[in-house]
Amino acid sequence: MRLYAHIRGWGKYVPPQVMTNDDIARFVDTNAEWIFSRTGIAERRIAGKDDTTTTMAYKAGLAALSAADADPAKVELIIVATMTPDRVMPSTASLVQSLIGAEKAAAFDLGAACSGFVYAYSVASQLIASGAYRNALVIGSDAMSHILDWNDRGTCILFGDAAGAFYLEADEQEGGMLAFELGSDGSGGNLLTGPTVGNSYVPSCGPDLKYNALDMNGRAVFRFATRIMGHAAEEALQKAGLTKDQVDLFIPHQANIRIIESAAKQLGLSMDKVYVNIHRYGNTSAASIPVAFCEAVEEGRLKDGDNVVVVGFGGGLTWAAAVMKWVAVPEEPQDPYSARVARRWVRYQRARLGSLKHRVEHIMDDWLETGSRIVEKQAKRRDPKERSEKE
Ligand code: ACO
Repeated sequence: MRLYAHIRGWGKYVPPQVMTNDDIARFVDTNAEWIFSRTGIAERRIAGKDDTTTTMAYKAGLAALSAADADPAKVELIIVATMTPDRVMPSTASLVQSLIGAEKAAAFDLGAACSGFVYAYSVASQLIASGAYRNALVIGSDAMSHILDWNDRGTCILFGDAAGAFYLEADEQEGGMLAFELGSDGSGGNLLTGPTVGNSYVPSCGPDLKYNALDMNGRAVFRFATRIMGHAAEEALQKAGLTKDQVDLFIPHQANIRIIESAAKQLGLSMDKVYVNIHRYGNTSAASIPVAFCEAVEEGRLKDGDNVVVVGFGGGLTWAAAVMKWVAVPEEPQDPYSARVARRWVRYQRARLGSLKHRVEHIMDDWLETGSRIVEKQAKRRDPKERSEKE
């Protein structure tokens, strides 16, 4: 009996603050027309003071669980794809686990830059297909604005902040992810780099690269992207036993409209089969594909049984493509909307109380241990035998 990982819920979070091309032209030497014509980007969202990679991931994850009417306490696996974690440790996934109250879930971050979400989706789907887990929450979240050099017009115009998520569940019915293709070429690692941790020096990066901001050779990455996107999609399609003309919707990483058009051309797809929202958000790294997927569903672009191809590429260099069969989510139970909302609210509060209980336990353990150490020290000071030995 083969198991398939079906997408039962999807969710996104985009910060409310909009930054237009004109806004950017106020602080770097560029103009709105140049940005739009070379990239397809009109505006992007920027994290506010309350938005971090973790909070955005949490909100998108909760939206995906809510769409599936799933209980956070029953989530078994959480993977967050990100290249901008709030901290190297703890992982964003562990923090999300605590925030949503997924007490039983294994949790880890996955780093494959803009390919990260499709990598994470592939890993989670395989763990479900193997029977190891019955469900998984896969999130792509990046606060790119935190690592940009806002004086570099070659990069700061391109990126935005967001998070997107899938909630996956095992099912025997054919559907969900059918095949994937993952790849990496570390020899091109120097073409797209992010901040270092401490003083690490990778010889191939060279001493002239920036160490605390994103740095990119735009033309080289452009060449790589136009070559790899079509190729990765074709490989995944072949593994799924499908041909290019069986693709109903293509959801590419939203990095540059010219790269998207070139990939569509390689695949022989007309642009009406390609989902594009880059004009609204720019390149949101690991969030780009799940956010685009959510909006494609919201806009009714997916029909039951559609073959969907997603392809990402990015730093590493890395690439990742997946082919999925979209199976419409089973009808919601027929109880009234208000009852569903109330039930969900109770579940979320119960799950959050579960993780709050653990947090309190950690604090109590700490207090008790500190207290017993103080008592022990005082007892030793009072013990005359120990004092005379010291003297
Ligand atoms: N405004 C005005 N002029 C600019 C700007 C700007 N923002 N940026 C560059 N220019 C100038 C350059 O200085 C250059 O001038 P010159 O001819 O006098 O030297 C000219 O415009 C052309 O520059 P190019 O770099 O050749 O411009 P290009 O058409 O390649 O567009 C861009 C640049 C948009 C960055 C493009 O190369 C690109 O999209 N590359 C891929 C980026 C990408 O997809 N990154 C993915 C990251 S995924 C991840 O993992 C994070």
